[in-house]
This record gives sequence, C-alpha cells and structure tokens, in this order.
Amino acid sequence: MLSLTFSTAILVSICLISAATAIRPRAPDANSCPGYKAINVKKTDSGLTAELQLAGTACDIYGRDLANLKLQVAYDSKSRIHVKITDPEEKRYQVPEEVFPRPDNRVNGPAKPSDITFTYAASPFGFTITRRSTGEKLFDTTGNALVFESQYLRLKTSLPNDPNIYGLGEHSDSFRLPNINHTRTLWSRDSYGIPQNSNLYGNHPIYFDHRESGTHGVFLLNSNGMDIKLETVDGKSSLEYNVIGGVLDLYFFAGPEPAAVARQYAEVVGLPAMMPYWGLGFHQCRYGYRDWIEVAEAIANYSIAEIPLETMWTDIDYMYNRWIFTLDPERFPLDKVREIVDYLHEHDQHYIVMVDPATAHQDYPTFNRGKEDDIWLKEADGSIHKGVVWPGVTAFPDWFHPNAGSFWTGEFVEFFSADAGVNIDGVWIDMNEPASFCSYPQKGSIDLISPPYAIANDAPLGLGDRTVHTDITHYGGLSEYDTHNLYGTMMGDVTYEAMLARRPGLRPLVITRSTFAGAGKRVGKWLGDNFRWSIAGMLGFASIYQIPMVGSDVCGFGGNTTEILCARWASLGAFNPFFRNHNGDTSIPQEFYLWPLVASSARKSIDIRYRLLDYIYTAMHHQSIDGTPLLSPLFFKYPKDTNTYKIDTQFIYGNALLVSPVIEENSTSAEVYLPKDTLYDFHTGRKIKGEGKNVTLTNIPFDEIPLHIIGGNILPFRSSSAHTTTKLRTRPFTIVIAADERGEASGELYIDDGVSIQQKAVIDITMEYKSGRLSIKGKFGFTGGMEGAGVMVESVKVLGKKRGNWERDGEGAEEVVEKKVYVELVGDVEIEVNC
Ligand code: GLC
Repeated sequence: MLSLTFSTAILVSICLISAATAIRPRAPDANSCPGYKAINVKKTDSGLTAELQLAGTACDIYGRDLANLKLQVAYDSKSRIHVKITDPEEKRYQVPEEVFPRPDNRVNGPAKPSDITFTYAASPFGFTITRRSTGEKLFDTTGNALVFESQYLRLKTSLPNDPNIYGLGEHSDSFRLPNINHTRTLWSRDSYGIPQNSNLYGNHPIYFDHRESGTHGVFLLNSNGMDIKLETVDGKSSLEYNVIGGVLDLYFFAGPEPAAVARQYAEVVGLPAMMPYWGLGFHQCRYGYRDWIEVAEAIANYSIAEIPLETMWTDIDYMYNRWIFTLDPERFPLDKVREIVDYLHEHDQHYIVMVDPATAHQDYPTFNRGKEDDIWLKEADGSIHKGVVWPGVTAFPDWFHPNAGSFWTGEFVEFFSADAGVNIDGVWIDMNEPASFCSYPQKGSIDLISPPYAIANDAPLGLGDRTVHTDITHYGGLSEYDTHNLYGTMMGDVTYEAMLARRPGLRPLVITRSTFAGAGKRVGKWLGDNFRWSIAGMLGFASIYQIPMVGSDVCGFGGNTTEILCARWASLGAFNPFFRNHNGDTSIPQEFYLWPLVASSARKSIDIRYRLLDYIYTAMHHQSIDGTPLLSPLFFKYPKDTNTYKIDTQFIYGNALLVSPVIEENSTSAEVYLPKDTLYDFHTGRKIKGEGKNVTLTNIPFDEIPLHIIGGNILPFRSSSAHTTTKLRTRPFTIVIAADERGEASGELYIDDGVSIQQKAVIDITMEYKSGRLSIKGKFGFTGGMEGAGVMVESVKVLGKKRGNWERDGEGAEEVVEKKVYVELVGDVEIEVNC
C-alpha cells in the first residue's frame, strides 16, 4: 500500500529530467514598430470592415509582422461593440466555437443610438471607444502602434490617471489592480500557496474600468498566454496587452452601472449555472482522511457537536494508489463507502469526491479503456504524452478528442453508479491546469516551447513547466500552446455532461480549480491551495467572471490554522456562496467541532447563513437568469463614492447585507467602512446612520462577524435554521423589513424544488413595503413547503423600531416590530405591519 503522505516532494524526485528550455533574450520595445494603416474601409449593416496594411518597415520584434490584417467592427447591441482584428483569411488560431460558443444575441443592424461609439484614425491605425453621453474616451489605442506578429500581439490603450481596473484574473492581487508597473499574466498554473502577483489556476481576460462617470468593461476573447501590463508614467496611465498568439477579439460593454457591465458580459460568456439548493449548505473536506473510518467519524462528530453538515467530501485518499475511478480496497472498500453514502442520504446529507484528469499510466481498466478510445494526449511520434502527478507517471485526456466525452461519461456512469458504485451527489475536479509535478524533456518546436516573447509565467522552466508540454498537438491539430488555458474548462464541460448522464434532469454540482471565461455556465469554483487571501478572489469570480458559486478553503489549505483564525474564517466562510472547510494532508485537523470557539462560530454563522439561504438562493437565481452578481464589492452599490473603490475586505452579500469580517488575527476590533446610507446592525437590529467614513467596531466576539443590513431592503428569513437544508426548506418564513429613510423597502424571493434543471412550478415574488404596508406579488406555483402544506410566512418584522426583540436578547438588543401573520404563499398578499 502506498504511503499516506505520498507528497509532492517524492513525486518531484521521480522526475527523470527537467526540461531544458532555453529562454531567449528579450527583443526591443514595441513602440518603435510602424503600426498599420486602414484602407478599403467599408460600412456594413452593423459597423464596418477594413484592411489594415503594415505602415512601414516591419519591426519583427518577436517574430514576423503580418503585412495585412482584417478589421471587423460590429455594433452588436446598444451597449456592446465587437472589434476583431485578424489575419485576412482568419487561418490563425481562434478560441474554438465548441469551447466558447459566440453569442447569438446580436441585434440585427446597428442599434441606435448606441451608448458607446467606435471611431478610428486611418494612419497609423488606432481606434477609440467613446461613451456617447459624456464624450469620454473609454479605450483609446491611437498613438500606440498596433503590433501583430506570428507569435506576438500588442495592443495598448491610454487610460485616465490612476484608473480603477478590476478583473484580469485569476489573481490574488488587490481587487482594484495596482496600476504602476504591474503585470497580470494569464496562463493556467498549479499555484500552491496562491502567491500574490503571480499567474494562478484560471484565466479571465475581462476587466471593468470604473469611473465616477460610469463603468465599462473590455473582454479579450483569446486563450493564448498573455501579459497585461498596467502602467502609470508621469500621470499617464495605460493598459497593454502582450499576447503570444491568436487574434484580437474584443468586446466592449457600455455599462454604465457596474452591475450592468456584469449583465452585458454575461450576454457574451453565458449565464452561470443554477446550483442545487443543497450545494449552498456547509461542506466538510480534507486531504488526508486515512480511511473510511475517519470519514465516518467526521460525519458523526459534526452531528454530535450539533453543527449542520450538509455534504461530506473525500479527496484523492479514497483511490487505490491515486488511480482515478478506483477505490483503495483496504482503506476505502466499496461496501464501507456505500454504507457511508447510504447513511448520508438517509439523513438528507450528500457526498462528493474528487476526480483528477491525470490518469495512472498503468495496466488498469480506466487507462486501458482510454487507450482503446484513443483519448490520451500524444507526442508527435504517436506515443502517449506523460506527466507525473499523484499516481506517479500519468496520461492526460485530450478533451478535443471526439471520444473523450463518451469515455468520461462511461467512467462516471460505471464507477459512480447509484446501484453498484460510489453514489456521489456532486463532483470535485482538480489539477486541471493541467498540473504535472515535473517536466520530461521537450523535443518539439522551439517556438512552441519557448516563444520569442516570454510571458511572466511563475514557473522556472517556461510555459510547459509543471504542466502538459506546449509542443503537444491535440486531436484535430490544435496545439497545447494555443489551448492550454482552456483545459480546465473543457474538463468542467465533460464532467457536467457526465454528471447529467448519471442524474438526468438534475443540476450537476461540479466544483473545479481551473477556469476560462464562460466556465460558470457549468461549474462552481474554489480558490485553490490558499493560506489566507480569499475575499478579493471571491469578489472577482462572483462579480466579474460570472462564476458565482465560489469560495475558499475555509480555515486555510496550507500550514496550520489556529483556533481564533479558524473561528473568524468559519464566520466569513458562511458568507461565501460556496462554503467548505478543507485543508492539506500535512496540516493539523481543522474540522469545526475540534475547538469550542470554532464550533460556536460555525454554529452561529451557519445559523445565520441557513436562515438567509433562500435570500442568497434568490440572488443566485437572479444571476443565473440575467447576470446580476449575487455578491459584489461596495462600489457596485455606491458607484459615486470614491472611498469604496479600493475596498476589498468588505463586500455586499446579496443586495442587502454588508459583510465586514475581522481580518486581523487575535483582534477583537475592526476598522470598517460604513457607506452613507441607512444601515441596521444585524446582531442588534439597531438603526445606524452610515456617514461614508471608516469606523472602528470594538469588542467583536471571536465567534461573531460584523454584519449590517442596508436600508431599503426586505429579506426573506427562514424562521429557524436546521441540521440540513432539506429540513430547512420546511421552515416557514419571517419577512424582515429594513426600511430606508423614507420608510420604504423592497425585496424578492424565488423558490423552486431546489434540484431540477427544468422547473414545473416556482414561487417568484417581489415584496414592497410602503406606508406601513407590505405587499407581495408575483408567481405563486411551488407548493413544497412544510409537510403537505405550501410555503408559509409566519411573521413580518420591521427593524429599527423600539419594541420587541431582535437577534440578540438582553443588553444591546434593539428593536423590531413583529407581526405574526401565518400566510400561505399562494397568491398576492397585502399585510398591514405598522401596529
Ligand atoms: C490539490 C488541490 C487540493 C487537494 C490536493 C490533493 O493541491 O488543490 O485541494 O487537496 O490537490 O488532491
């Protein structure tokens, strides 16, 4: 049997030899290049086309300048312009339609008047995107030569001084990106520890540029490696794309509100998948559960500690020698694993396991079937391309192969069979950058192994280091060099289909590590092997990249946590859409029940999370139908308040809850920003006037997180929490009204069966509060509430009135009016609340 601590270090020592990749010397600057001139400009129904001709002697700085290019500009809609610069015949690599279907929601003919406009200078060619209402230049390449070479594209825009740029992840930099000498590199990479200023697992070449006058977005649809440089020199800022292949395929989104940019971006990349309701419950995982007994113990201990556990996970520990689609017969025998899963299901709990792409290069059924189906990535000589991952020497599926999907589904249906296999409810896919622990020598084209322009990939031996080699060709002829950044998303897509084949009609819960733009249509994402950073990363995925099911490893993956850190993180994790405690095999155990303070923090915060679960489920539903983020940075709500632009340790959960965690370890106070608005302290119900200033909150218990409800909102609470989300769904609602200064508020509530892709009947209602009356209107169809009965509203509470008790009894408790109502949600309701 394999040692339980089969660590990366041992695997790396298996590496035969490191790739000897000569890094070429850097070539001169792009500013000396001639640029292009636009000729033969023709108006089209939706915009224009032109030829771009090299405007002087080729500079050939990182390869060969292309002499001729094609420009296509389309006013796709009132709020979107599409600008595409390619080789004339469009033979160069472009992100394949099968991975990234192009939006089919273009307006026929030019939408008039569009909110943004495209203008150009003919020679040297440059273009400008302008906001029509203000005349402001949003993107302006004039004066910066376009460079378009075989393996290097450069496009540079001027920006206002000290711009507010967000996105361009995956990264762990500040949410508002630094704009002096800062490079964001996009190239999927296994990034243990999640260093700052480094390329991480996923790639999302979209940025939001926020100005007091409005927000716009720019998306570069390109999967090649790239450096995006943000610079400010002498008060002049700029953003420069340096891309090592593909074409310039740009979408501009007019906004002007931040959430409008999010919706417009979702029109191009696709709307995020709706997750099962139970997926929002609390998940427990760790790397290093020795056997089924330890897994069973953790489940039992959560129950004994009365901490709700919705889903138990098992990492690669369950596999025989880390071979995917196998069970270790001694430590995780099938009958015991099935017993665990049956127990969980009987108690309305769920089970998830991990699957990696890297497959042991061994004589065993999965590997052999993959060979028969011919789906392993191959070297030029036809031999299987090898890496070294958890099982030792591995092969990698080629997701472009036409047999890959059926192969993967076949493995899922058999191994995860409900009748005879491991009956999982969701799946966790990992190492899909794809990661490899070392590099065999690369023999192919030097241009693909070590291209002339070296992006700042944070791996010592170049592009193919610790991953599949970039000189590998996928089925159909596409190179890993061009498609590397798509690997994780393609694995997510086939895994989604495989889960759907196992559980037809049910929303798959697939949590992945590596994502490309558009991945949210099928998967959720966890932030990888963190120590501490988490909020800015979560904000990026939920509010910009359209992957709202996101969260970090609560209490941290690497290193050892402490009781106080874990207690604080448990209460912060409860406000991550995806809420999972997970840690590494060499770290001390960190299940919530292990320390009194952590257990208390988990109980309290899960209690709040669960009572608010329909509120966040409604927000997730909203995002899944129109792209409005379920969670956002403060400037989304307060776009004119310049104080909010840099804040990335507080966020707004849903539309109404300001979350301000204590982020200093061992501290009981927090400096938090309270926007100019009517706020209510969540824990006391006390009304506070936010003044647009930082305030210091003191005496914050270690098991509590500062929360404020923003005035003007109505939140549907379940009247009490429960040990599982199935039980929770039988609880009646308490409608909580946090009125604004005018004494008004509004909110919404969406309820469905929680699991089906197609819903037969839903509750989809809006709530308005005015002049002391609450009115509820909308669709009333879903009836699965309390046993036999429909969905009930038990009471209505109005915060900030000096009567009755709110969350915390006794001292410090502030007050609410509570009215008991007992209304079944079957039709429009009017309730007089001001008693
Ligand atoms: C990777 C994952 C981590 C997992 C480990 C073992 O490091 O990011 O979450 O526990 O692999 O599978």
